[in-house]
Amino acid sequence: MARVRIEGLQKSYGSYRALRDVNLDIPSGTFFTLLGPSGCGKTTLLRAIAGFHFQDAGEIRLDDVALGQMHASRREVGMVFQDYAIFPHLSVWDNVCFGLVQRKLPRQEMHARAMAVLETVQLVDQRERMPAQLSGGQQQRVGLARALVIRPKVLLMDEPLSNLDAQLRVELRQDIRRTQRRLGITTVYVTHDQEEALSVSDLICVMNQGSVQQVGTPWEIYRQPVNRFVASFVGAHHFSELVVGEGATVRWLGCDWATPASARPGQRVVLAVRPEKLRVARAPVEGLPGCAAAIEAATFTGREIQLQLRTDDGLAIDAIVNAHSQATEWRAGDRACVHVRAENLMWFAADAGGGRLT
Ligand SMILES: Nc1ncnc2c1ncn2[C@@H]1O[C@H](COP(=O)(O)OP(=O)(O)O)[C@@H](O)[C@H]1O
Ligand SMILES: [Mg+2]
Repeated sequence: MARVRIEGLQKSYGSYRALRDVNLDIPSGTFFTLLGPSGCGKTTLLRAIAGFHFQDAGEIRLDDVALGQMHASRREVGMVFQDYAIFPHLSVWDNVCFGLVQRKLPRQEMHARAMAVLETVQLVDQRERMPAQLSGGQQQRVGLARALVIRPKVLLMDEPLSNLDAQLRVELRQDIRRTQRRLGITTVYVTHDQEEALSVSDLICVMNQGSVQQVGTPWEIYRQPVNRFVASFVGAHHFSELVVGEGATVRWLGCDWATPASARPGQRVVLAVRPEKLRVARAPVEGLPGCAAAIEAATFTGREIQLQLRTDDGLAIDAIVNAHSQATEWRAGDRACVHVRAENLMWFAADAGGGRLT
């Protein structure tokens, strides 16, 4: 278990800057997730922590030890890969023991450690099997066991669930979270899936184009995104660019909305809202701002209904409504009223940085 500190980290591939001055402080024992779109530098950062490649500038520290150019095998980090990276010609047992044999552990201790870690990942009964005889989820648990058996101070996981089907992904992410909690091991976990990140993490670091955008708890990232990119990446929609009017309001969804105090008349701003924050009804809801619209498409997914609406003044807007709170089914062509509370609007600057306006 260790605190990981990353200071001023930079890494380029040729002229391409994959990491631009990354600074992070990962408290000991946290489940810390790097979240961002494909290509934003998540794997590059993880591999730098693992020592699979070296940064061009900056430093990584485990507790008080600066890793510098220390070889990967001496870093006391364990890594779990997207494609499992287990040896197909070795049994589960031999895969798990591999790192211990390399470290020349005494036989008895090796046995005890391998058994303990197989119990943790619930693979004791499968230990004589070959990888090809295991499901994808079991193979990834072998990957996890192999990383844990060396007792790393930090566990690194690079999109470990992305080759699994949806249901297994949810099950295994809970297993991973439980295991992490029980061992209290500092974990840096990479995903591009916002729901996965929100559901397992103590802290999330949202990245874009090699830079850290925001670090916060799942609740903070969801409720208080610092800029337009973070908001869009964690599910906000309808980024409408509007000009603030003389009365410090903008007109949107058939209503006038007071703009945040920091927005000036004449300034361009971007307004966003989450689809699950819209209320869709058959008739206007008293006391709630909104406007009339037509349903263009309705998709029933079991728990929820995804609605594509077009307001009468031409705004296309997506809403997600709870299926069991709807008295009747929604169909394309239905008339509706779409509402939103002012407190659920998010405001951003219209410039490249897209900072949140308050
Ligand atoms: N070995 C490499 N050589 C050149 N470019 C690379 C190499 N590895 C990654 N990149 C580029 O660096 C960027 C970040 O890659 P990566 O860290 O793998 O992103 P992520 O894991 O977030 O998808 C991408 O644009 C990718 O194309
Ligand atoms: Mg990657």
